Amino acid sequence: MLKFWDSSVGKKVVMGVTGLILVGFVIGHMAGNLQIFMGMERYNAYAKLLQEDIIEITWAVRVVLLVSTVLHVLAAYQLTMRNRAARPVDYALRDAQVSTYASRTLRWGGVFLAIFLVLHLGQFTLGWKWLLPEFSRGAAYGNVVLAFERPFWVVFYLVAMFFLLLHLFHGTWAVLRTLGLAKNAAEPLQRRLPLIIALVVTVGFSLVPLGVALGIVR
Ligand code: HEM
Repeated sequence: MLKFWDSSVGKKVVMGVTGLILVGFVIGHMAGNLQIFMGMERYNAYAKLLQEDIIEITWAVRVVLLVSTVLHVLAAYQLTMRNRAARPVDYALRDAQVSTYASRTLRWGGVFLAIFLVLHLGQFTLGWKWLLPEFSRGAAYGNVVLAFERPFWVVFYLVAMFFLLLHLFHGTWAVLRTLGLAKNAAEPLQRRLPLIIALVVTVGFSLVPLGVALGIVR
């Protein structure tokens, strides 16, 4: 087991499998969030379901998400360090062959997403007052509306969703390659499944802050 983790391929497989678990979560979380367009009662009932009625399942999911996130970040960090050690001096000329904007921003985009996640949990789950002074436990709908009535948070979330788009696009393609399920497509836009997943998740999430900013949700 340790030998597997020690190998670069092992770390990539760990990144891929944990990445797929996280993709599954974001798809579910995005779909759940869209219920905000069905009104306060529906959205708060959904939040209550997760927070009270099936709290044991929620906790099991939290543990899986936490372990997956830690392993995903740790493997990414170690692979980056290993790659740097293998080439201490940078290339004199970087002439990208088939890399995309998404693949080149994966690491820094990942760091931004990690910061986003901490602030996001602080704002909506942990109720940190400096992030959302009006936070009220059990009032998920009101919390979301109050946050996105502030343009700063709308922009912040939209920027985060842009990074999520790039991350999901490149990440899902990479895992399909690691698992041998995708052919090598030189043209990035031929990577249709990753593109669809990334677009659906990102657009779905973005509709929430946009819905509040446009006054459709209030
Ligand atoms: C516009 C986008 C998003 C909105 C409106 C949103 C909304 C929310 C809300 C309201 C909660 C708290 C639910 C409650 O406890 O009552 C929550 C929790 C959470 N969100 Fe998001 N979310 C968004 C995007 C994301 C993204 C992109 C991720 C991950 C990359 C994410 C990860 C989480 C996690 C891990 C929790 C904690 C779940 C728990 O254990 O209780 N969210 N979100």
